[in-house]
Order: sequence, then structure tokens, then C-alpha cells
Amino acid sequence: MKKTVKDIDVKGKRVLVRCDFNVPMEDGQITNDSRIVAALPTIDYLIDQGAKVILMSHLGRPEGEADMKYTLKPVAERLSEFMGKKVVFISSPLVVDETVKKQVLELKDREVMLLENLRFRKEETDNTPSFSKELAELGDIFVNDAFGTAHRAHASTYGIASFLPAVSGFLMEREVAFLGEAISNPKHPFLAIMGGAKVEDKIHVVENLFGKVNSLIIGGRMAFPFQKALGHEIGISNIEDKEVEIASDLMNKLKSENVKLLLPIDNVCARDFENDSYKQVSDMGHLCTDLMIMDIGPKTIQLFTEEILKAKTIFWNGPMGVFEMPNFAVGTLQIARALIQSKAITIVGGGDSIAAVEKFGLADKMTHISTGGGASLEFLEGKPLPGLSAILDK
Ligand code: 3PG
Repeated sequence: MKKTVKDIDVKGKRVLVRCDFNVPMEDGQITNDSRIVAALPTIDYLIDQGAKVILMSHLGRPEGEADMKYTLKPVAERLSEFMGKKVVFISSPLVVDETVKKQVLELKDREVMLLENLRFRKEETDNTPSFSKELAELGDIFVNDAFGTAHRAHASTYGIASFLPAVSGFLMEREVAFLGEAISNPKHPFLAIMGGAKVEDKIHVVENLFGKVNSLIIGGRMAFPFQKALGHEIGISNIEDKEVEIASDLMNKLKSENVKLLLPIDNVCARDFENDSYKQVSDMGHLCTDLMIMDIGPKTIQLFTEEILKAKTIFWNGPMGVFEMPNFAVGTLQIARALIQSKAITIVGGGDSIAAVEKFGLADKMTHISTGGGASLEFLEGKPLPGLSAILDK
């Protein structure tokens, strides 16, 4: 168990909080603020307790350049709207400079400040100790609430813990509790649903779930190599030979581990990768050679839904089709609906599946939506997360 903000006295202290405000942006506008919303419980708690709150985050990958395309100013503005109070923001290309240090010293109890994008300094991703120290000197206590960045050993997530006592925030605690419980002590039947892009990105997650998971649904592009390995036609959908080998290997392992595997039995196919393309539903094995698979078909939706309704724990990562195009979003939408109809603990992780449930307006009906894409996968693979291991044990 890791120490949390509740285990320490923060009153009157300068508390440095690492958040993951790496939010999607378009033309300088935030297009999804759920990572900001997810950080609020810790920030509100610290304010209530009378701390001086100094927030820090990265945004995008500016690669050590102070590129203002990646400024955190819009995040400071959104935060202050949510909190109904001013969030002090100094857009320093150095992140920490004399003006910032002076402002930190002038901060009063219950005031909040946000530093500029940490990745304006190359030392952040290099985990340079002198940068960790520079940051640490701004505070008395370090709180890591950036679950989404916990798989990175960076100056503000890992190195900093050598200079300050480190505890976790509520978001970090919640993420670890839900994902940890799902893999160590799931309620059975435990069903994992994997979709999205490449099989090699998810294979280690599946393997780490052996011995715990009862059944596995594979859909989306990830299902193509399995279908091919079973000798089915996948038309002009593109996959590499290596993926087919991985899929066939995994099918053997699933059999020996007694994990039930469910694959699509029909597909919605199209001639072009376009929403308005000609489309048709084809049973597995009857796909025309000049079509590509864009979504799971109605029989598959029925099959997957029946399995979902039997489960008590469900982990979902990866969409079932090209949900960004309305004509090919049905499979992903119906799977999301089945999840919320089920009586199971439902955990959704991974950027695309989260984007999908948010787009369908179903996010708040899931038990837990992980804010971590890469971090949640690495956690479920059983890899230690540096940002988590740096936090003090209870
Ligand atoms: C994420 O969005 O996965 C995290 O914020 C980490 O970002 P990164 O992949 O650029 O390190």
C-alpha cells in the first residue's frame, strides 16, 4: 500500500502535485477535459486542508523546446473555471525561473498555481537530477497524481522523489485500486475485451491475465490476424505475417490456459476507408476479396453481448471497429451498451476505447474509466510503474 495525501499533514505546506494534464487539443482548444476533471478531488482536498498547491504537468511532446503550441495556459484557464478560483500561471520557457520562484514564495494557503509544460525542458524526460532538485525546491511535499504518466521515469514523476517525501493523490490511488483488484482478485467470471490496433501491443496484457481471466473477446483490427490464422478471408484489410504467427501462438496458449476465446463471426465490410463507402455484412469466411473489415457484424454483437452479460468483472481495451465513422460505430456502441447493462464491475482503459465511451455519452455509467492509456496497459502487463514505485509505502 502506498501513502496518500491523507497520511500526511499538508496544512500551510507547499505541496507540489504532478498531474497528467496531457489533454487532447485542436487549434489551441481543449477537446476533452476528463483528465483535468479527474485531478480535481486531490486539488480540492489540498485546498480544503489549507495547503499551498503547486501543480505541474506535461502536454504533448515538445522535446525540450519551449514551443508555445504546447503551453499549459488553456489548462490553467479550464482549471480555474472548474474550481471557481484563480489559478496562477506563469508561462516561463524555463518552467522554473526567478519570477516563478518568487511567485511560489508569495503563494498563500489555499492558493493554486500551475507551472508551464515540464517538457519545455529536456531534463524532464531525461530524468536529470538537477531538474528534479529545481522542482523539489519549490515545495515541501510531492504528490504524484499523474497515473497516466506513471510508466515514465521522468524528473517530475520519479527523480523528484529522491528530494521530497512522495505520496499519491486520490486519482493514482483509485486507478491502482481498480486495476490492481481486477488483476489480483477479480470477481469471476472475468472477461477481457481487447480490440483496436495491433496484437503485439496487447499480447503481454493477455498473458499476464492467464490464471485470472475466464474468457477473452477479441474484436476490431486486432481480430484480423486471428481470423487469418484460422484460414478465413480478410479481404484487403492489411496485416503482417508476424501478426498471424503471434495470433496463432496466442490461440494455442489460450487453449492450454483454459481461457475461452470469442472472435467475430461476421463483419461489416466496406470498399473504401470512408464513412459513406459501399458496405455489406459478411459472415466469417465469406468476405469478398476486394473489401475491408470496418466493424463487427450483428451476429457477433449478439454473441459478445451474451458473454458480457454473464461476466462479473470486465476489462475493456480497444474499439470493435472504426467508431470515429458513424456508419462503422455500431459494434463499439453496442458493446459499450452491453457493458453498462451487465451487473459487472466495468473497467475501461486505453485512449481509443475511452474516447469511444465518452463520444457515446456512456463514460459515467462505467465503474472505472482509466485515465492512463500506456500506463494502464503496462500496469496490466505486470510491469512496475516508476511513478508509482517512487511513492512511499505505508
Ligand atoms: C499519455 O497520454 O499516455 C501520457 O500523458 C504520457 O504521454 P507520453 O506517451 O507522451 O509520455
